[in-house]
Amino acid sequence: MPKTDNINRIIDHKLFSEDDIHNMCVTLGKKLTEDYAGKKPLVVGALKGAIFFLTDLVREMDVEEEIDFMDVSSYGDGFESSGKVKLISDLVTNVKGRDVLIVEDIVDTGLTLKYMKDLLKKRGAKSVKCCVLLNKEANRTTDVKIEYYGSKVGNEFVVGYGLDFMNFFRNLRYIGVLKPEIIKQVNNK
Ligand code: PRP
Repeated sequence: MPKTDNINRIIDHKLFSEDDIHNMCVTLGKKLTEDYAGKKPLVVGALKGAIFFLTDLVREMDVEEEIDFMDVSSYGDGFESSGKVKLISDLVTNVKGRDVLIVEDIVDTGLTLKYMKDLLKKRGAKSVKCCVLLNKEANRTTDVKIEYYGSKVGNEFVVGYGLDFMNFFRNLRYIGVLKPEIIKQVNNK
């Protein structure tokens, strides 16, 4: 079935348009350009959700940066964080003495970011900050500092622009809210 047919069945409403997302990237990129002036940060993308945001964000940053990725997962295929963070694949770059900027699509409980920040600090990074597109505070269980974020969101299940529903729909250009009945249907299976 084409992607668009399926999307209309699962999306309740659009939360952020392509323009909204672009504007958030421009604003964050400007701020990061100022804050990282004269530095050579290592930008660490958290796979897989952050890929679209990272590629748009770094192109709005006028900074000499390096990019690397870590695959860290806390959700599995479910709707709620499993509470356990797993390191699935690691960085190639040595972070010792580096200014590291973690890029994430969303922070929810905060467990994933806390895990990444603690690990990178333990490995000797000079500084570890994060830039998150969406900041969902309702389920936060961890005291983790969010240095930069695009927008706050409510306690809704969001998909698109890297955010998935059962690992699909990451390639949606906008961010939408999943219909509540879809969550109920999947939870009842
Ligand atoms: C999602 C998201 C963040 C994390 C946030 O990743 O991309 O990494 O959950 O949740 P938390 O604040 O409760 O830890 P997920 O584990 O679903 O992997 P994915 O990026 O591959 O979709």
